[in-house]
Amino acid sequence: MVSPTSPDAGPTPANTAEPRRYLVQTYGCQMNENDSERIAGLLEADGLEPAADLDDADVIVVNTCCIRENADNRLYSHLGHLKALKASRPGVEIVVGGCLAQKDRERVRERAPHVDLVLGTHNVHRAVDLLHDVRRTGPITEIWEETVLEDHQAFPSALAVQRDASYSAWLTIQIGCDNSCAFCIVPSVRGREISRPFGELLDEVGRLAAEGVVEITLLGQNVNSYGRDITTRLRGEPPDPYAAGPSWTADGAQRPRPLFADLLGAVAQVEGIRRVRYTSPHPKDLRPETIAAMADHGAVCPHLHLPLQSGNDSVLAAMHRGYTAERYLERLAAARAGIADLAVTTDIIVGFPGETEAQFVDTLAVVAEAGFDSAFTFVYSPRDGTEAASKVDRFVSAAVSAERMERLRAVVERSGREAHAARIGRVEEVIVERASKKDPNVLTGRTAQNKMVHFPVAAPIRFGSFANVVVTGAGGFYLLGELQEVTAGPRHRTRIPVVAR
Ligand code: SAH
Ligand code: SF4
Ligand code: F3S
Repeated sequence: MVSPTSPDAGPTPANTAEPRRYLVQTYGCQMNENDSERIAGLLEADGLEPAADLDDADVIVVNTCCIRENADNRLYSHLGHLKALKASRPGVEIVVGGCLAQKDRERVRERAPHVDLVLGTHNVHRAVDLLHDVRRTGPITEIWEETVLEDHQAFPSALAVQRDASYSAWLTIQIGCDNSCAFCIVPSVRGREISRPFGELLDEVGRLAAEGVVEITLLGQNVNSYGRDITTRLRGEPPDPYAAGPSWTADGAQRPRPLFADLLGAVAQVEGIRRVRYTSPHPKDLRPETIAAMADHGAVCPHLHLPLQSGNDSVLAAMHRGYTAERYLERLAAARAGIADLAVTTDIIVGFPGETEAQFVDTLAVVAEAGFDSAFTFVYSPRDGTEAASKVDRFVSAAVSAERMERLRAVVERSGREAHAARIGRVEEVIVERASKKDPNVLTGRTAQNKMVHFPVAAPIRFGSFANVVVTGAGGFYLLGELQEVTAGPRHRTRIPVVAR
């Protein structure tokens, strides 16, 4: 832990009647989105109000990601922009949090001395206290090596929260990652896997449902291993009070390990919850019980995001993914056989160190066979400290990776178009999410399969409403539709922006 870095007194904000305003800018994955909601909740509890934009903000929080190199570069160029802003308004406080801060630590301040507070991924709950300290002592860098379990507040879900869309909520069920994929920085910036107790999660879902949330997305880097650490702790003596809780299975039976499937089923049965999603399951840990829970509970959405990474067994082994291409396809087939109308998406890395043309062609073949609805495709990006980053002599050139990426995208787009075209003529239930920026009379909703549908409306529909839409057209990444009927209005009580005129 490093704190504080400078004894100089920093700026003390003027004590005016106007409430100060904050802006949280989030990079990276839903883990960071979730942390950002927590930080916003803490700032609001401290009396701050949301700012409309950067120029309106007194406290700017940048929640960073370092999964790939361009994420690093983007952050430092953004911080450069904030330097100019702070020069014109010295009272502005800049906070840098998240995974890049956890990784770079003192380097953030070296490269951007105008940052007031640098905090990591394990001490999000300290954001406001530290900001108060900054006002007394000057700039602070505080990075914890790991999450302190005894400190209940340290768990991201245990903090006050300021959510954006109140019909839908993310729920972090697990933090950290115990895997060691050779390309990945996450274990070193997010730490070991810690599952949040089953009973606590269900209580939170119950509270959210009572507030009108209808859609829950369970979050973790490896959700299928949810509960593994609880079992490990239970085996130790004396029993860990953190692990104690109500019965773990939906039928009330106790067993040493709450399975992810149990959690999925239990959340799906909470009254008022109509959609349950989750991300990400690791293919090596995808159990038949999870597939059965998806099949058995109508509220669990028929969408599986199953990261493939590569379709070649040697590359998968070098990545330490723990499955072969055949095994992956078997699990996918089992999921499709078990769950009606399943949409499948994935992540793929191109140009992993040493990847040959023939190995890449294997990936193309597996991707074609899997028939994904869509895929996030990434060029391999070396991350310092990861195993793969040391294989410098095996790096694939940028030109070769770019060329492979083009070919991969063509294959993914083909199956995506087919999957989308297959929806034409069907009636899909969507949750209305937003209006088009270009035309407020065109709304966007999301189907249970997580596909976006754009459809025109004649009269306003409130966000968070359920509507039936007939699919009339399809592109590679979206559907077009016609509104049939609004089946349910939103249940959440917050002010709803009225859309369309
Ligand atoms: N926990 C998730 C992945 C989280 S990171 C899982 O195991 O499925 C999201 C995606 O970023 C990964 O699936 C991978 O495809 C990509 N990724 C991670 N590290 C990367 C790197 N160094 N270079 C390129 N892509 C990377
Ligand atoms: Fe990274 Fe692998 Fe963990 Fe996913 S499972 S976060 S890719 S180490
Ligand atoms: Fe990025 Fe951290 Fe997520 S590195 S992808 S924000 S866990």
